[in-house]
Amino acid sequence: MDIKPNWKLTFKIDQSDLMAIMELLEATFDNEPTSVSGFEDADTGNWYGEALYAARPDEADLEQRLADFQHGPFTIEPLPNIDWVEKSLENLQPVRAGRFYVYAAHNDMTARPEDVPLLIGAGQAFGTGHHGTTSGCLMAIDDLAKTRDIKTALDLGCGTAILAVGLAKVSEAKILASDIDPIAVEVADEVIKDNNVQSRITTLVADGMDDPAFARFGPFDLVIANILARPLIELAADIATQVAAGGNLILSGLLATQVDEVLAAYENQGFREIRRIPLEEWMTLVLER
Ligand SMILES: C[S@@+](CC[C@H](N)C(=O)[O-])C[C@H]1O[C@@H](n2cnc3c(N)ncnc32)[C@H](O)[C@@H]1O
Repeated sequence: MDIKPNWKLTFKIDQSDLMAIMELLEATFDNEPTSVSGFEDADTGNWYGEALYAARPDEADLEQRLADFQHGPFTIEPLPNIDWVEKSLENLQPVRAGRFYVYAAHNDMTARPEDVPLLIGAGQAFGTGHHGTTSGCLMAIDDLAKTRDIKTALDLGCGTAILAVGLAKVSEAKILASDIDPIAVEVADEVIKDNNVQSRITTLVADGMDDPAFARFGPFDLVIANILARPLIELAADIATQVAAGGNLILSGLLATQVDEVLAAYENQGFREIRRIPLEEWMTLVLER
């Protein structure tokens, strides 16, 4: 966790491409960015992608990987000698979603007695509670845990494991948390320890559902997958086999405009929608079979 970024990449993007571009920038094995984010320029309303790197990113490589997206020119500038991961975390304020109160170690602890606190202090994985997809999943988890007896669960694409940790705090579930990105899983392990739920969550580095561990742990009473619309559609059959009869599925990472195609893929697998949670331009779906 002590990689110091020395370079900042900024470029204009379409807001609807933000999550896909963030994932593309993260999905690299050499010169992986130490953080990836997006922001809106309050004056112009334009959206920008931003990534911090230890080594200077290669413009030709970026150009090739982002070829499918409309974007502005790349600005690559050296950073002064500051711990930017720490710095960006310092600016994060606590977030509430359902009963959950997501905070970082530097925040003043202003949780109410009825809040379920989630301490998320790591900066190199997706999942601080500030994204509409994460908040939507936390709200869905809060809701389901009040009415269902969830004994086993899978957090697919766990990032910081914020969703697995949240579920562990409001249920008795034993949880498998997996991510394609080994750094995300390292971060997840820290977050799980920080929240003292390590006896309840097992982590795994895996691409999609292609690992024998899923069959060993599953089928699950609840599967949560906050990844993008395209992988959600591609993984529909694999995910479906790991949801127990009568079990639930929380899907997020899809735009409101992608609901119909994602839903159709899961209705084909015998699921029906029981709730949808729109947040910003994102949609979280809660399904049952
Ligand atoms: C949008 S983030 C969600 C993180 C966290 N679950 C949350 O809700 O904030 C998506 C995560 O899925 C992971 N991911 C993307 N494709 C994946 C795949 N095929 N298999 C497993 N994980 C994947 C990414 O590395 C990333 O950490």
